[in-house]
Amino acid sequence: MLQLSKRAQNLKTSPTLFLVAKAKELAAQGHDVISLTVGEPDWPTFKIPSEAGIEAIQKGITKYTAANGTIELRKAIAGKIKSELGIDYSAKEITVASGAKFIVFTALQMICSPGDEVILGAPYWVSYPTMVELADGVPRVIECNEQDHFKITPAKLEAAITAKTRGFLFCSPSNPTGLQYSAEELKALAAVLRKHPQIVIISDDMYNRLVFDGSRVAPHILQVAPDLRDRTVAVNGGSKAYSMTGWRIGWAAGPEKLITAMGDYQSQATGSPSSISQHAALAAIQNCEPDIAQVTKILTGRRESGLKALQSIPGFKTAPPDGAFYFWVDIHAHFGKSFDGKVIRTSKDFCDILLDKFYVATVPGIECGTEGFMRLSFAVSDETFIRATERMKELVAALK
Ligand SMILES: Cc1ncc(COP(=O)(O)O)c(C=O)c1O
Repeated sequence: MLQLSKRAQNLKTSPTLFLVAKAKELAAQGHDVISLTVGEPDWPTFKIPSEAGIEAIQKGITKYTAANGTIELRKAIAGKIKSELGIDYSAKEITVASGAKFIVFTALQMICSPGDEVILGAPYWVSYPTMVELADGVPRVIECNEQDHFKITPAKLEAAITAKTRGFLFCSPSNPTGLQYSAEELKALAAVLRKHPQIVIISDDMYNRLVFDGSRVAPHILQVAPDLRDRTVAVNGGSKAYSMTGWRIGWAAGPEKLITAMGDYQSQATGSPSSISQHAALAAIQNCEPDIAQVTKILTGRRESGLKALQSIPGFKTAPPDGAFYFWVDIHAHFGKSFDGKVIRTSKDFCDILLDKFYVATVPGIECGTEGFMRLSFAVSDETFIRATERMKELVAALK
Protein backbone atom coordinates (compact mmCIF):
# COMPACT_ATOMS: atom_id res chain seq x y z
CA MET A 1 0.00 0.00 0.00
CA LEU A 2 1.20 3.52 -0.81
CA GLN A 3 2.71 4.90 2.37
CA LEU A 4 3.13 8.63 2.84
CA SER A 5 5.68 10.19 5.15
CA LYS A 6 4.78 11.35 8.63
CA ARG A 7 5.26 14.89 7.35
CA ALA A 8 2.69 14.32 4.60
CA GLN A 9 0.24 12.80 7.05
CA ASN A 10 0.46 15.85 9.31
CA LEU A 11 0.12 18.33 6.46
CA LYS A 12 -2.99 20.52 6.46
CA THR A 13 -4.42 21.87 3.21
CA SER A 14 -4.41 25.65 3.14
CA PRO A 15 -7.92 26.51 4.44
CA THR A 16 -8.20 29.60 2.25
CA LEU A 17 -7.38 27.60 -0.88
CA PHE A 18 -10.05 25.10 0.18
CA LEU A 19 -12.60 27.91 0.51
CA VAL A 20 -11.63 29.33 -2.87
CA ALA A 21 -12.18 25.87 -4.40
CA LYS A 22 -15.61 25.54 -2.75
CA ALA A 23 -16.65 29.00 -3.99
CA LYS A 24 -15.54 28.05 -7.52
CA GLU A 25 -17.54 24.82 -7.34
CA LEU A 26 -20.72 26.74 -6.38
CA ALA A 27 -20.07 29.23 -9.19
CA ALA A 28 -19.63 26.31 -11.64
CA GLN A 29 -23.10 25.10 -10.56
CA GLY A 30 -24.46 28.43 -11.80
CA HIS A 31 -24.67 30.38 -8.52
CA ASP A 32 -23.69 34.05 -8.43
CA VAL A 33 -20.88 33.68 -5.88
CA ILE A 34 -19.09 36.72 -4.44
CA SER A 35 -15.69 35.83 -3.08
CA LEU A 36 -14.20 37.98 -0.34
CA THR A 37 -11.62 35.32 0.51
CA VAL A 38 -8.99 36.43 -1.94
CA GLY A 39 -5.60 37.55 -0.71
CA GLU A 40 -4.68 39.26 -3.93
CA PRO A 41 -5.29 42.62 -5.56
CA ASP A 42 -8.12 42.75 -8.12
CA TRP A 43 -6.22 45.16 -10.38
CA PRO A 44 -3.82 43.86 -13.02
CA THR A 45 -0.05 43.77 -12.72
CA PHE A 46 1.15 47.27 -13.56
CA LYS A 47 2.02 48.04 -17.19
CA ILE A 48 5.77 48.53 -16.72
CA PRO A 49 6.52 45.11 -15.15
CA SER A 50 4.10 43.42 -17.56
CA GLU A 51 5.99 44.88 -20.52
CA ALA A 52 9.32 44.00 -18.90
CA GLY A 53 8.14 40.38 -18.65
CA ILE A 54 7.35 40.35 -22.38
CA GLU A 55 10.70 41.97 -23.09
CA ALA A 56 12.46 39.26 -21.04
CA ILE A 57 10.89 36.56 -23.20
CA GLN A 58 11.66 38.38 -26.43
CA LYS A 59 15.25 39.08 -25.45
CA GLY A 60 15.86 35.52 -24.30
CA ILE A 61 16.18 36.35 -20.61
CA THR A 62 14.72 32.91 -20.10
CA LYS A 63 17.47 30.85 -18.49
CA TYR A 64 18.50 29.92 -14.95
CA THR A 65 19.84 32.75 -12.85
CA ALA A 66 21.76 32.55 -9.58
CA ALA A 67 19.60 30.55 -7.16
CA ASN A 68 19.26 33.58 -4.87
CA GLY A 69 18.27 35.95 -7.71
CA THR A 70 20.11 38.18 -10.17
CA ILE A 71 22.61 40.65 -8.81
CA GLU A 72 20.69 43.52 -10.50
CA LEU A 73 17.48 42.61 -8.72
CA ARG A 74 19.18 42.09 -5.36
CA LYS A 75 20.87 45.48 -5.66
CA ALA A 76 17.56 47.13 -6.59
CA ILE A 77 15.90 45.51 -3.56
CA ALA A 78 18.73 46.81 -1.35
CA GLY A 79 18.12 50.31 -2.74
CA LYS A 80 14.40 50.03 -2.14
CA ILE A 81 14.90 48.92 1.47
CA LYS A 82 17.37 51.75 2.04
CA SER A 83 14.87 54.30 0.78
CA GLU A 84 11.94 52.79 2.71
CA LEU A 85 13.51 51.73 5.99
CA GLY A 86 16.83 53.59 6.00
CA ILE A 87 18.83 50.38 6.49
CA ASP A 88 21.84 49.45 4.33
CA TYR A 89 22.07 45.94 2.88
CA SER A 90 24.62 44.53 0.47
CA ALA A 91 23.47 42.20 -2.33
CA LYS A 92 24.89 39.28 -0.29
CA GLU A 93 22.39 40.05 2.44
CA ILE A 94 19.42 39.66 0.10
CA THR A 95 17.88 36.55 -1.41
CA VAL A 96 15.08 36.33 -3.96
CA ALA A 97 12.82 33.27 -4.21
CA SER A 98 9.63 32.03 -5.85
CA GLY A 99 7.25 34.01 -3.64
CA ALA A 100 7.44 35.44 -0.13
CA LYS A 101 5.63 32.36 1.14
CA PHE A 102 8.67 30.27 0.23
CA ILE A 103 10.93 32.91 1.76
CA VAL A 104 9.15 32.61 5.14
CA PHE A 105 9.16 28.81 4.79
CA THR A 106 12.90 28.78 4.04
CA ALA A 107 13.77 31.15 6.87
CA LEU A 108 11.93 28.83 9.30
CA GLN A 109 13.69 25.78 7.84
CA MET A 110 17.03 27.50 8.43
CA ILE A 111 16.45 28.61 12.02
CA CYS A 112 14.50 25.72 13.57
CA SER A 113 15.88 22.46 14.86
CA PRO A 114 13.38 19.83 16.06
CA GLY A 115 11.39 21.12 19.04
CA ASP A 116 12.46 24.75 18.69
CA GLU A 117 9.67 27.23 19.35
CA VAL A 118 8.54 30.05 17.13
CA ILE A 119 6.30 32.73 18.62
CA LEU A 120 3.29 33.89 16.60
CA GLY A 121 0.37 36.11 17.55
CA ALA A 122 -3.20 34.94 16.88
CA PRO A 123 -4.94 36.00 14.72
CA TYR A 124 -2.20 34.95 12.30
CA TRP A 125 -1.80 34.39 8.57
CA VAL A 126 -3.22 30.89 8.03
CA SER A 127 0.06 29.47 6.72
CA TYR A 128 2.35 30.36 9.64
CA PRO A 129 1.70 27.50 12.10
CA THR A 130 1.93 24.78 9.45
CA MET A 131 5.12 26.31 8.09
CA VAL A 132 6.65 26.18 11.57
CA GLU A 133 5.56 22.55 11.95
CA LEU A 134 7.05 21.66 8.56
CA ALA A 135 10.35 23.02 9.89
CA ASP A 136 10.01 20.58 12.84
CA GLY A 137 9.38 23.61 15.04
CA VAL A 138 6.60 24.19 17.54
CA PRO A 139 4.30 27.19 17.02
CA ARG A 140 3.96 29.03 20.29
CA VAL A 141 0.79 31.03 19.76
CA ILE A 142 0.06 34.16 21.78
CA GLU A 143 -3.65 34.97 21.93
CA CYS A 144 -4.11 38.64 21.15
CA ASN A 145 -7.29 40.40 22.08
CA GLU A 146 -9.51 43.16 20.85
CA GLN A 147 -8.45 45.68 23.55
CA ASP A 148 -4.86 45.33 22.32
CA HIS A 149 -6.03 45.68 18.71
CA PHE A 150 -4.98 42.07 18.14
CA LYS A 151 -1.34 42.93 18.67
CA ILE A 152 1.22 41.19 20.86
CA THR A 153 2.02 43.18 23.96
CA PRO A 154 5.57 43.25 25.39
CA ALA A 155 4.34 41.47 28.53
CA LYS A 156 2.77 38.65 26.53
CA LEU A 157 5.88 38.34 24.38
CA GLU A 158 8.13 38.14 27.42
CA ALA A 159 5.90 35.50 29.01
CA ALA A 160 5.95 33.34 25.86
CA ILE A 161 9.75 33.24 25.56
CA THR A 162 11.45 30.06 26.77
CA ALA A 163 14.93 28.60 26.42
CA LYS A 164 13.62 26.88 23.27
CA THR A 165 12.42 30.04 21.52
CA ARG A 166 14.27 30.46 18.24
CA GLY A 167 11.96 32.68 16.25
CA PHE A 168 9.45 35.49 16.48
CA LEU A 169 7.33 35.79 13.33
CA PHE A 170 4.93 38.66 12.80
CA CYS A 171 3.25 40.63 10.05
CA SER A 172 2.47 44.36 10.09
CA PRO A 173 0.12 45.53 8.66
CA SER A 174 -1.42 42.23 9.53
CA ASN A 175 -3.10 39.63 7.45
CA PRO A 176 -5.87 39.05 8.70
CA THR A 177 -6.64 42.18 10.76
CA GLY A 178 -5.16 44.99 8.64
CA LEU A 179 -3.91 46.55 11.89
CA GLN A 180 -0.28 47.59 12.21
CA TYR A 181 2.20 48.09 15.03
CA SER A 182 3.10 51.72 15.73
CA ALA A 183 6.75 52.72 16.07
CA GLU A 184 6.25 52.89 19.87
CA GLU A 185 4.76 49.41 20.00
CA LEU A 186 7.62 48.02 17.92
CA LYS A 187 10.13 49.76 20.18
CA ALA A 188 8.56 48.07 23.20
CA LEU A 189 8.68 44.63 21.53
CA ALA A 190 12.30 45.27 20.52
CA ALA A 191 13.17 46.03 24.15
CA VAL A 192 11.99 42.52 25.07
CA LEU A 193 13.68 40.84 22.09
CA ARG A 194 16.97 42.62 22.80
CA LYS A 195 17.23 40.63 26.06
CA HIS A 196 17.01 37.29 24.20
CA PRO A 197 19.79 37.11 21.63
CA GLN A 198 18.88 33.55 20.55
CA ILE A 199 15.68 34.80 18.88
CA VAL A 200 15.58 35.47 15.14
CA ILE A 201 12.93 38.03 14.21
CA ILE A 202 11.04 37.41 10.98
CA SER A 203 9.22 40.58 9.99
CA ASP A 204 6.70 39.81 7.24
CA ASP A 205 6.35 43.16 5.49
CA MET A 206 4.16 42.00 2.60
CA TYR A 207 1.63 44.78 3.10
CA ASN A 208 3.91 47.54 4.36
CA ARG A 209 3.41 49.73 1.27
CA LEU A 210 -0.39 49.44 1.30
CA VAL A 211 -1.12 51.78 4.22
CA PHE A 212 -3.90 54.32 4.61
CA ASP A 213 -2.53 57.16 6.73
CA GLY A 214 -0.62 58.77 3.89
CA SER A 215 2.74 57.32 4.99
CA ARG A 216 4.97 55.80 2.34
CA VAL A 217 5.66 52.71 4.42
CA ALA A 218 4.37 51.16 7.66
CA PRO A 219 6.55 51.51 10.79
CA HIS A 220 9.25 48.81 10.90
CA ILE A 221 11.09 47.18 13.80
CA LEU A 222 14.46 47.94 12.16
CA GLN A 223 13.65 51.65 12.02
CA VAL A 224 13.25 51.77 15.79
CA ALA A 225 15.77 49.06 16.71
CA PRO A 226 18.50 49.00 14.04
CA ASP A 227 20.71 47.15 16.53
CA LEU A 228 18.55 44.05 15.90
CA ARG A 229 19.58 44.02 12.23
CA ASP A 230 21.93 41.09 12.73
CA ARG A 231 19.09 38.78 13.70
CA THR A 232 16.15 40.19 11.78
CA VAL A 233 14.86 38.94 8.45
CA ALA A 234 12.73 41.47 6.58
CA VAL A 235 10.42 39.69 4.13
CA ASN A 236 8.65 41.28 1.19
CA GLY A 237 7.77 40.62 -2.43
CA GLY A 238 6.01 41.62 -5.60
CA SER A 239 2.63 40.04 -4.91
CA LYS A 240 0.70 42.71 -3.06
CA ALA A 241 2.11 46.19 -3.70
CA TYR A 242 2.84 45.44 -7.39
CA SER A 243 -0.07 43.04 -7.90
CA MET A 244 2.31 40.36 -9.14
CA THR A 245 0.87 37.34 -7.30
CA GLY A 246 1.22 34.99 -10.27
CA TRP A 247 4.79 36.04 -11.05
CA ARG A 248 6.00 34.46 -7.79
CA ILE A 249 8.72 36.80 -6.60
CA GLY A 250 9.51 37.28 -2.91
CA TRP A 251 12.65 38.34 -1.12
CA ALA A 252 14.35 38.65 2.24
CA ALA A 253 16.99 40.96 3.65
CA GLY A 254 18.93 39.82 6.68
CA PRO A 255 22.24 38.75 8.17
CA GLU A 256 24.56 37.24 5.56
CA LYS A 257 24.96 33.91 7.37
CA LEU A 258 21.22 33.23 7.40
CA ILE A 259 20.58 34.69 3.94
CA THR A 260 23.36 32.51 2.46
CA ALA A 261 21.85 29.43 4.11
CA MET A 262 18.42 30.37 2.73
CA GLY A 263 19.93 30.79 -0.76
CA ASP A 264 21.60 27.38 -0.49
CA TYR A 265 18.31 25.81 0.60
CA GLN A 266 16.52 27.43 -2.34
CA SER A 267 19.23 26.18 -4.68
CA GLN A 268 18.41 22.60 -3.61
CA ALA A 269 14.64 23.07 -3.52
CA THR A 270 13.33 25.26 -6.34
CA GLY A 271 16.51 26.53 -7.98
CA SER A 272 16.40 30.10 -9.17
CA PRO A 273 13.13 32.02 -9.26
CA SER A 274 11.77 32.68 -12.77
CA SER A 275 14.20 34.81 -14.80
CA ILE A 276 11.25 36.46 -16.56
CA SER A 277 9.57 37.39 -13.29
CA GLN A 278 12.83 38.72 -11.87
CA HIS A 279 13.24 40.99 -14.88
CA ALA A 280 9.66 42.21 -14.39
CA ALA A 281 10.13 42.72 -10.64
CA LEU A 282 13.26 44.79 -11.30
CA ALA A 283 11.26 47.09 -13.59
CA ALA A 284 8.49 47.30 -10.97
CA ILE A 285 10.88 48.28 -8.19
CA GLN A 286 12.57 50.90 -10.37
CA ASN A 287 9.45 52.49 -11.86
CA CYS A 288 6.20 51.79 -10.05
CA GLU A 289 6.10 54.24 -7.13
CA PRO A 290 3.31 56.27 -8.81
CA ASP A 291 1.28 53.09 -9.40
CA ILE A 292 1.56 52.11 -5.72
CA ALA A 293 0.42 55.60 -4.71
CA GLN A 294 -2.57 55.27 -7.01
CA VAL A 295 -3.73 51.85 -5.78
CA THR A 296 -3.27 52.92 -2.17
CA LYS A 297 -5.63 55.80 -2.87
CA ILE A 298 -8.18 53.41 -4.37
CA LEU A 299 -7.88 51.06 -1.38
CA THR A 300 -8.26 53.99 1.02
CA GLY A 301 -11.57 54.87 -0.68
CA ARG A 302 -12.75 51.26 -0.56
CA ARG A 303 -11.85 51.06 3.10
CA GLU A 304 -14.14 54.03 3.82
CA SER A 305 -17.11 52.76 1.81
CA GLY A 306 -16.60 49.19 3.05
CA LEU A 307 -16.53 50.29 6.68
CA LYS A 308 -19.72 52.28 6.22
CA ALA A 309 -21.47 49.27 4.68
CA LEU A 310 -20.30 46.98 7.48
CA GLN A 311 -21.37 49.44 10.16
CA SER A 312 -24.91 49.25 8.79
CA ILE A 313 -25.12 45.52 9.59
CA PRO A 314 -26.57 44.84 13.05
CA GLY A 315 -24.16 43.02 15.36
CA PHE A 316 -21.05 43.52 13.22
CA LYS A 317 -18.07 45.35 14.74
CA THR A 318 -15.06 46.24 12.61
CA ALA A 319 -11.83 47.98 13.56
CA PRO A 320 -10.74 50.31 10.73
CA PRO A 321 -7.67 48.66 9.17
CA ASP A 322 -4.39 50.61 8.98
CA GLY A 323 -3.23 48.82 5.85
CA ALA A 324 -3.46 45.71 3.63
CA PHE A 325 -6.94 44.99 2.23
CA TYR A 326 -8.80 43.07 4.89
CA PHE A 327 -11.59 43.80 7.34
CA TRP A 328 -11.55 41.76 10.53
CA VAL A 329 -15.18 41.64 11.59
CA ASP A 330 -16.39 40.71 15.07
CA ILE A 331 -19.46 38.46 14.71
CA HIS A 332 -19.73 37.25 18.31
CA ALA A 333 -23.10 39.02 18.62
CA HIS A 334 -24.67 36.41 16.35
CA PHE A 335 -23.40 33.35 18.19
CA GLY A 336 -26.23 31.37 19.77
CA LYS A 337 -28.73 32.51 17.11
CA SER A 338 -30.01 30.11 14.48
CA PHE A 339 -30.61 30.02 10.75
CA ASP A 340 -33.09 27.46 9.39
CA GLY A 341 -32.83 25.62 12.70
CA LYS A 342 -29.02 25.49 12.65
CA VAL A 343 -27.47 27.17 15.66
CA ILE A 344 -24.41 29.34 14.99
CA ARG A 345 -21.70 28.42 17.47
CA THR A 346 -18.52 29.20 15.56
CA SER A 347 -17.19 31.55 12.90
CA LYS A 348 -17.12 28.53 10.59
CA ASP A 349 -20.87 27.97 11.13
CA PHE A 350 -21.54 31.62 10.24
CA CYS A 351 -19.27 31.62 7.18
CA ASP A 352 -20.63 28.27 5.96
CA ILE A 353 -24.21 29.62 5.97
CA LEU A 354 -23.04 32.79 4.26
CA LEU A 355 -21.46 30.73 1.48
CA ASP A 356 -23.98 27.88 1.17
CA LYS A 357 -27.16 30.01 1.37
CA PHE A 358 -26.10 33.53 0.36
CA TYR A 359 -23.15 32.72 -1.92
CA VAL A 360 -20.63 34.98 -0.22
CA ALA A 361 -17.25 33.38 0.51
CA THR A 362 -15.32 34.68 3.53
CA VAL A 363 -12.59 33.34 5.83
CA PRO A 364 -13.75 32.22 9.31
CA GLY A 365 -11.60 33.75 12.04
CA ILE A 366 -10.86 30.35 13.53
CA GLU A 367 -8.73 29.54 10.48
CA CYS A 368 -6.51 32.43 11.62
CA GLY A 369 -6.49 31.09 15.17
CA THR A 370 -9.11 33.43 16.67
CA GLU A 371 -12.77 32.52 17.13
CA GLY A 372 -15.67 34.97 16.78
CA PHE A 373 -14.46 36.89 13.71
CA MET A 374 -14.35 36.66 9.95
CA ARG A 375 -11.91 38.09 7.44
CA LEU A 376 -13.25 39.95 4.42
CA SER A 377 -10.99 41.04 1.59
CA PHE A 378 -11.79 44.42 0.10
CA ALA A 379 -9.55 43.87 -2.90
CA VAL A 380 -12.78 43.86 -4.90
CA SER A 381 -14.77 46.68 -6.50
CA ASP A 382 -16.95 48.88 -4.28
CA GLU A 383 -20.01 47.55 -6.08
CA THR A 384 -19.05 43.91 -5.39
CA PHE A 385 -18.33 44.63 -1.74
CA ILE A 386 -21.65 46.43 -1.27
CA ARG A 387 -23.55 43.55 -2.91
CA ALA A 388 -21.80 41.14 -0.53
CA THR A 389 -22.73 43.22 2.51
CA GLU A 390 -26.37 43.34 1.36
CA ARG A 391 -26.39 39.54 1.42
CA MET A 392 -24.81 39.57 4.89
CA LYS A 393 -27.61 41.88 6.01
CA GLU A 394 -30.17 39.39 4.67
CA LEU A 395 -28.51 36.60 6.63
CA VAL A 396 -28.42 38.65 9.83
CA ALA A 397 -32.09 39.64 9.37
CA ALA A 398 -33.04 35.97 8.99
CA LEU A 399 -31.35 34.90 12.24
CA LYS A 400 -33.60 33.86 15.11
C1 LIG B 1 1.09 37.79 5.35
C2 LIG B 1 1.55 37.25 4.06
N1 LIG B 1 2.84 36.91 3.93
C3 LIG B 1 3.32 36.38 2.80
C4 LIG B 1 2.48 36.16 1.72
C5 LIG B 1 3.08 35.46 0.52
O1 LIG B 1 3.00 36.09 -0.67
P1 LIG B 1 3.64 35.46 -1.98
O2 LIG B 1 4.06 34.06 -1.72
O3 LIG B 1 2.57 35.57 -3.02
O4 LIG B 1 4.82 36.32 -2.31
C6 LIG B 1 1.12 36.47 1.81
C7 LIG B 1 0.18 36.19 0.71
O5 LIG B 1 -0.99 35.97 0.88
C8 LIG B 1 0.64 37.05 3.01
O6 LIG B 1 -0.64 37.39 3.17
